Amino acid sequence: MRDEQDRVRIFDTTLRDGEQSPGISLNKQEKLEIAHQLARLGVDVIEAGFPITSPGDFEAVQAIAREVQGRVICGLARTAKEDIDAAWNAVKDSERPRVHTFIATSDIHIERKLQTTREDVKGQARAAVAHAKQYTDDVEFSPEDGSRSDVEFMAEVVQIALDEGATTINVPDTVGYTMPHEYEAMFQELYRLVPALRDVVVSVHCHNDLGLAVANSFAGLQAGCRQVECAVNGIGERAGNASLEEIVMLLHTRESSVGLWTGVGTREIARTSRLVSRLTGYTVQPNKAIVGRNAFAHEAGIHQDGVLKDRTTYEIMDATTVGLDTNSIVLGKHSGRHALRKALEELGFEVQGAALNKAFNRFKEIADKKKKVTALDLEAIVSDEMRQSPAAYELESFEVEASSSRGPHAGVAVRMPGGGVGKGSFTGDGPVDAFFSAINAAVGREARLKEYHVSAVTGGRDALGEVTVLLELDGRMASGVGVSTDILEASGTAYLRAISNALAESAAAEAEHHLSQAEADQTPTP
Ligand code: KIV
Ligand code: ZN
Repeated sequence: MRDEQDRVRIFDTTLRDGEQSPGISLNKQEKLEIAHQLARLGVDVIEAGFPITSPGDFEAVQAIAREVQGRVICGLARTAKEDIDAAWNAVKDSERPRVHTFIATSDIHIERKLQTTREDVKGQARAAVAHAKQYTDDVEFSPEDGSRSDVEFMAEVVQIALDEGATTINVPDTVGYTMPHEYEAMFQELYRLVPALRDVVVSVHCHNDLGLAVANSFAGLQAGCRQVECAVNGIGERAGNASLEEIVMLLHTRESSVGLWTGVGTREIARTSRLVSRLTGYTVQPNKAIVGRNAFAHEAGIHQDGVLKDRTTYEIMDATTVGLDTNSIVLGKHSGRHALRKALEELGFEVQGAALNKAFNRFKEIADKKKKVTALDLEAIVSDEMRQSPAAYELESFEVEASSSRGPHAGVAVRMPGGGVGKGSFTGDGPVDAFFSAINAAVGREARLKEYHVSAVTGGRDALGEVTVLLELDGRMASGVGVSTDILEASGTAYLRAISNALAESAAAEAEHHLSQAEADQTPTP
C-alpha cells in the first residue's frame, strides 16, 4: 500500500520556465494544447505562465485556468502588487488556482540585481504573501537563488512567508550551481531552522547548468521535499530545468528501493514529449534519457542478442511504460471522417466541426501519398494545423531547381497576412539556401537561418518529413516547424512560420513597451 506521505507532487513549469528558453514562442492555442496534455499526463500543478510579462501570456494563462480541469493552475509573480494582481486575475477562474511569488535571498542578487537590503527583502516577501493570501489559500513562495543564499537569512524569509500563510515553499537552485550532497544538506538545515516547514509542502526547482538538475531534485526529495518543479524534455532557462520524464521515471523504476511515487500516468510521457518538442521547435537529442529516439535502441550485437533472449538483460524500463507503442492506430485512404475522429479522440485530440473538416482534408491528401497513416502521423498533422495562426505568412507555391551543372534556383509565392501575394526568386549556394532567400525576397525581410533540422515522423520511404527551423530576424530568435510528405514544402512552411513568430514576438514586445511607457508617463513624480 502506498503512503500519501511518500507522494511526490509534480509541478510542471514547461509553459513558464520552459517557455522562457530562447526561440520558443508558443501561441495561446499551442499553450492550451500542451496544458491539456499535461493534465492527461497527470501532473499535479501546471505553472501556466508569468501573467504580468505580456498581455499574450496573461490571456494564455487565463484560458488554461478556464479550460483545464482537475489540476492546480498556477501563475508566477514577483513581489509587486501589480504582479500578484495579474497572476491572480489570470488564474482565478480555475477550480484550483495558485499564486506563486518569489524574491531573491542571495546576497549577490540582493546587492547587485535588486540593489536593496536584506531587511527590504523580508518586507517584500511578507507583503507579497499577505497580498496573495487575500485572494487564495494556495500560495507558493520561492526564495530565488536559494541554493546560494545564506541559509540562516533564507530561513528567516521562509519563516515570514509561512507566518503570512504560504502553503508551499520552493527553494530553487536558480543557477544550477549546487551539488546533490549540498542541496540535501541545505534542506536538512532549513528544516532544522524552520520546524514549521514540516507542515507544508517543500519543493525543489533545479536548473541543469552542470547537468545535475535531476540528481539535485532527487537529493531534495531524500531530505524530505515532496514537490518537484520540472519541465517536459528538460526545457527552461539556459541549460533548462530538471526533466519531468527523468525524475518521474527515476521514481517509478526505483520505487521499491526509494519508496516515493507520483500520480503521473507514465504511458503519456512519449506523446507529451513529442507534442512539446513539435510546438516549441526544440528537438530532443537522440540519446536523451527516456524520450530520446535511441533510449530503447540497442546497437551492439551482444546487446541485441541479450535483449532478444530476455529484455531485462539490457533494459531497466519497458518502452511501453513510457508510451512508446502508440503506432497501433492505422488508417488508409479509404478511412472515413468517423474513423479519423475516433482515432484522434484516442490520441486525446477533440476535433470537431470546421477543424475536423480541415484535418480530414489534410489526412486525405496524406493518405493519397502514403499507404498507411499511423498515430504518429496523425499527431504530426494535428499539431501542424495548430501551428498555423491566421495572422501568419503562408506558402502558396514554390519551385526549386537543383542540378550539378547550374546554380540552384528557387521561386516562391507567399500569401501575406493582410491578403495579397508576394513573389520572390533567388539563385543561391544550395537549393535550401536559394529557397529561403527567395522567401526573404517575397516577404521583404532579412531573416538569417541559424539551424535547420529534418526528421522523418515514421520509418519508410513515404514517411512524413518534419522540418524545424531556427532563425534570427532583427535581433530576435524564433523557431518554426513544418510537416509534409514533401520535404521542401515542409521547409518553406517552417521558415515562414519562424518569420511569423519572430514578427509576432516583436509586435508583442513593442506593445508591452508602449504600455509601460504610458504607465510611466501617468505616474506622478513626488
Ligand atoms: O529558477 C528560479 O529561481 C525560478 C523561480 C522564479 C522559481 O524559476
Ligand atoms: Zn527556474
